[in-house]
Order: sequence, then C-alpha cells, then structure tokens
Amino acid sequence: MTEAPLLELDGVSKRFGSIVVADSLSLSLGRADAVGIVGPNGAGKTSLFSLISGDLRPNAGDVRLDGRSITRLDPASRCRLGIARTYQVPRSFEHMTVFENVLVAVHRGAGLRGREAFGLAAQVLDETGLADTANERAGRLGLQQRKRLELARALGARPRLVLLDEVAAGLTDPEVEGLVQIVAGVRARGVAVVWVEHVVRALFGVVERLICLAAGKMIGDGEPRAVLASDAVRDVFLGTDYGEVAPG
Ligand SMILES: Nc1ncnc2c1ncn2[C@@H]1O[C@H](COP(=O)(O)OP(=O)(O)OP(=O)(O)O)[C@@H](O)[C@H]1O
Ligand SMILES: [Mg+2]
Repeated sequence: MTEAPLLELDGVSKRFGSIVVADSLSLSLGRADAVGIVGPNGAGKTSLFSLISGDLRPNAGDVRLDGRSITRLDPASRCRLGIARTYQVPRSFEHMTVFENVLVAVHRGAGLRGREAFGLAAQVLDETGLADTANERAGRLGLQQRKRLELARALGARPRLVLLDEVAAGLTDPEVEGLVQIVAGVRARGVAVVWVEHVVRALFGVVERLICLAAGKMIGDGEPRAVLASDAVRDVFLGTDYGEVAPG
C-alpha cells in the first residue's frame, strides 16, 4: 500500500460574502516537501494557510493529514498533530522574553513540560539564531529578530509541517539570506515547509515547487522557474516588479 501524502486539500472552497478566497483548491504535499506560494495581494495565500491550520473552516471540501480528515479539527488540535504556522503580523507576547515566548509555544504546541520543554526551547532559539536575545523582551526586538521569533514560535510546536507567511517581508538582503539558511536547515531535518513570500528570491533557496494563486485559484504549480515563466503567471504579475523575480 502506498503511504498517504502528508497533507491533502480536496476541493477546498472558502467565501467571504462575494469574495472567493479559495475556489475548489486541490493539492497534495509529501513529507519533507518544500513548496513556495506566490500570488498578488488578496489572492488568498493567507486564507489558504488558515484553512490548513484550522483558523478558517472551508465552505466545502476536505483537508487531510496522513490521509485522515482534519477539516473539523480546531487549530490547537491540528497543531498537536504537527501543523504550525507563522502569522503575517507577528503574534508574539510583547511583554514576555524571547525565551518565554518560545516556551509557551513548546508547552501548547509540543505538549512538553519542565526540563524537556526548556531543552526544546533552547534548541529552537539556537536553530533560529536567537540564543543571544533569549532574555530580551519581545516588544523590544527589531524586525529581523521579530520575524525569527515568529518562526521560532512555530518551530516550538515541533511541527511536521510549517506554514511560513511572509517571514522575509521587509528584511534586508543579508537578513533574507540568513533566514533562508535557517529555513533550509529546518527542511533538511525533515520538516515539510510551505512558504508564502513576495520576496521570491528567498524561496529559490529552499523550495523545489512553486504554486501561484490568483483570486483563490491555482494558476501555476510545478518547477519554480517554469511556473514563473508561464503566461498565466506572467499575466497576473504584469506591471509589478514580480517580473524580475527569478534570480540568475
Ligand atoms: N476574515 C475575513 N473576512 C472578510 N474578508 C477577508 C477575511 N480574510 C481575508 N479576507 C479577504 O479575502 C481576500 C484574500 O485575503 P488573503 O489575506 O488570503 O490574501 P493574501 O493572498 O494573503 O494577500 P496578501 O499578499 O496581501 O497578504 C482579500 O480580499 C481579503 O480582504
Ligand atoms: Mg497574506
């Protein structure tokens, strides 16, 4: 028997009034896959993450993890099954330290306590290059560290699948490069990554598959350069600086 894919979306649709943010989306993701998602503002990228994480329930369709429907599960249950996400607007607790923020994620997401929880939090801070700022209050961090903390909080849940929503937005080139190294490392230890990013050159350091969304529909899915070169995708980005996205 062949193993079920890690994640499957089967005809998933979501509307807000007359706005269709997911239009019968179907896709399949394997273990340790790394997939990038691009698409214009309002295309439904963040909504797609919310449908996977459980922050949104679809109007139709099914979301499956390991072949099992998770469509009716709440976000906390999905997180315990191994799905973690970051938020476009960071959601760290401003008055708490970096370490405490990650520890909360470890408690809630990975369900660890005591020494084990401390160990995982410390490991995640090392992995995300935040060990030096462990005792800083989150509210005092600059953008780069704030973005890394958002990633660290997701990793604290010990995910099998991590959904990254614009974690590179607003960073300088060297900062993006540092982040790419971190995400590539996460992926290399077997965590599946889905990464939404307008900074497409960041994606090229990690993903081998690119999906393009527009108005809730998948208009491209495949090898990243081929997807970006396709007519449908070029049409959507016409007139934006997305035309220059593919490096090299
Ligand atoms: N909770 C909501 N209620 C009503 N409309 C919503 C809600 N969430 C998103 N939308 C609308 O759905 C559409 C898709 O939004 P979404 O945030 O998924 O897009 P996006 O591709 O992530 O865009 P961006 O690149 O700007 O982050 C937008 O028109 C948005 O205004
Ligand atoms: Mg978004």
